[in-house]
Amino acid sequence: MENKKVIHKHSLAIRWLHWVNFPLLAVMIWSGLLIYYANRVYKLDLGFTTITFFPEWFYDAIGMRRRLAEGMSLHFAFMWLFTINGVIYFLYLIFSKEYKLLFPHRRALKEAWLVLLHDLHIRKGLPPQKKYNAAQRIAYTGVIILGFFMIVTGLAIYKPAQLNWLCATCGGYEAARIEHFVITILFALFFLVHIMQVILAGWKNFSSMITGFETKKIESNDHKRANLEHEKSKE
Ligand code: HEM
Repeated sequence: MENKKVIHKHSLAIRWLHWVNFPLLAVMIWSGLLIYYANRVYKLDLGFTTITFFPEWFYDAIGMRRRLAEGMSLHFAFMWLFTINGVIYFLYLIFSKEYKLLFPHRRALKEAWLVLLHDLHIRKGLPPQKKYNAAQRIAYTGVIILGFFMIVTGLAIYKPAQLNWLCATCGGYEAARIEHFVITILFALFFLVHIMQVILAGWKNFSSMITGFETKKIESNDHKRANLEHEKSKE
């Protein structure tokens, strides 16, 4: 016989902070692109080449040109909300001790490798896990670190004169700009992989980030025993 067990997975605070972060990051990236494409002086010039992510006609088609003031005002207003939300999330993880379920443990690298092999269908079975597997722990902790450096490099290019010590720590104004862009690209990559994993993990996993709960199938002892015997008979 098959039973279902309801498990509490995500606290209310985690769910709110997670979902608030999503539109904030979207506005930050959108307004960042408005600044970036407003004028050629904002282009990323690496000396030997200038980085443009999409062909020029693309920005005209979606009306992204000459919207510098709008981009700046959105970026500089929402950066505070993004920072405040991130700081609250980090403090919550520490004080609620939920970081123990999220930060990588000592075996994380080895286990993340096994998770990767499993996801590529090369290996059966997963190492035992608590709330998150080792690959998730590394990815989620990585994105928190990215968020930290996003804010640091952003502040360095926001106030390079007043915060000159911060700008210098980042390697100067131009270096801080490049770091800010690279971090944005890494955020976008995390986002793509995260969404793919959420789709693969299915509806129950996704809805648990809204309701906080997930139902798990549990088998009665009789059923488990029958399964074991069945497995043994196949060997
Ligand atoms: C804005 C970009 C996003 C970032 C930076 C982000 C980051 C994270 C982080 C750090 C966690 C772990 C939360 C914790 O337990 O403390 C998480 C979990 C999760 N996120 Fe996101 N997320 C983003 C967008 C999204 C979107 C758009 C979706 C849905 C389409 C989504 C669905 C989920 C789900 C379902 C989980 C729980 C995974 C599980 O229980 O295995 N996230 N996310």
